[in-house]
Amino acid sequence: MYSCSNCDTQYIKWQGRCNECGHWGSLKIDQNQDNTLARRPMAQVGKIELTSVLDLNIAQTPRHQSRLPEFDALLGGGMSTGSLVLLAGEPGIGKSTFVLQLINSLKEQDTGLQTLYLAGEESPEQIKSRLERLQIKPDIKLLRQPTLEQAVAAIGQNRPGLVVVDSIQTLASTQIDSSAGSINQIRACAASLLETCKKQNTTCFIIGQVTKDGLLAGPKTLEHLVDTVIYLEGDAINDYRMLRVTKNRFGPTDEVMVMKMTPSGFEVIANPSMIFLDSPAGTINRSGVITPVADGSKTFLIEIQALVTPTNFGYPQRRSSGFDNNRLQLLLAVLSKQAKLPQLNNHDVHLNIAGGYKVIEPAADLGVCLAITASLLNKEFTQAVSAFGEVGLSGEIRPVKRQETRLKELNKAGIQKIISPATVRSISEAINTL
Ligand code: TYD
Ligand code: MG
Repeated sequence: MYSCSNCDTQYIKWQGRCNECGHWGSLKIDQNQDNTLARRPMAQVGKIELTSVLDLNIAQTPRHQSRLPEFDALLGGGMSTGSLVLLAGEPGIGKSTFVLQLINSLKEQDTGLQTLYLAGEESPEQIKSRLERLQIKPDIKLLRQPTLEQAVAAIGQNRPGLVVVDSIQTLASTQIDSSAGSINQIRACAASLLETCKKQNTTCFIIGQVTKDGLLAGPKTLEHLVDTVIYLEGDAINDYRMLRVTKNRFGPTDEVMVMKMTPSGFEVIANPSMIFLDSPAGTINRSGVITPVADGSKTFLIEIQALVTPTNFGYPQRRSSGFDNNRLQLLLAVLSKQAKLPQLNNHDVHLNIAGGYKVIEPAADLGVCLAITASLLNKEFTQAVSAFGEVGLSGEIRPVKRQETRLKELNKAGIQKIISPATVRSISEAINTL
């Protein structure tokens, strides 16, 4: 057998490139040829003890409280002690900055929480100068570019309360001959950290880089191993960043927290509903439709813009930014048939969600349909228009969750013209009310 030193996939014949992970020249002869369990007799085991859930007593795990109430709420009351938290995000988005600010804001910092920072990406001097820029002085012990073995030894000898791994892609074990950042290395490092930290109840904050498609670089197993997964999202053009919890063994998921990157670090935005609207509601672009979208427990007002132009050549184009392109195609088919707008079939449609927000919920359907219709018919709204509701295949408008909260945010923004499942029943009716 041959196995890939990057991802452990096995092959019967040698080949130049691993089909699984795409690495070249990583297939090596597998020395343990004997790992086919089926041919060996089953190992003997003694008597097995089972545990009854009724007899279990659980003590509440203590949590790390911080001076960032929004962050504690995001995790359901602070980070559980002894848990593994993965913070994932694109390079340069602000992961290291956020972690340093978080350490500084932990309340235990005052009572001498020992923090060990495994600095694989930056030199101690760079970290120090960042702390100066942030004007904070947390008590952090640094270990520069450790191997996995050195890191585990350092955790065992110093018994810190908190360990930060910046980043898991730079940590490597000397026992594994693939390079740092490979699937095998990430898997082995995460498993050792898990074992070491759980044994001595040390909280471990692992920073992970994501690839261009927004996926965590490395194995999916990393997400399975840790207790909590937080994504730090945002884009290069604006300063807003969102922390989103996608997995949490100790609290809720799908909660979000919004922050703004300033020259002196992150600031938490307590009421983020208006951040994606660039201008106050009164002066809103006359062809865009404002839609309130629910995300976690927050509601954001976003502006949906559409540009519809006659197709000059070939098939009509359908382009979208911040909105699912398949959903756009579906809504165009509904508009064309149910709202009797067949002329869409020879028009190009460009859809844009202003401010860089990525819509995932169907509540934005109605806003998308109205923005497209307005541009197709060359109509300008005479006042700020808001719309939300899911559009079904027969053109019916379906109710969406949390309608009252959405209406409340629109009222706060002073928008009077609101089209919602409460006011219209079909897409044609919605077009007519405009
Ligand atoms: P960083 O935390 O290094 O990102 P990551 O660890 O995710 O790679 O953040 C780097 C960016 O943040 C960098 O482009 C500069 C910017 N920044 C600020 O705008 N203000 C600040 O106070 C700091 C420390 C960084
Ligand atoms: Mg960093």
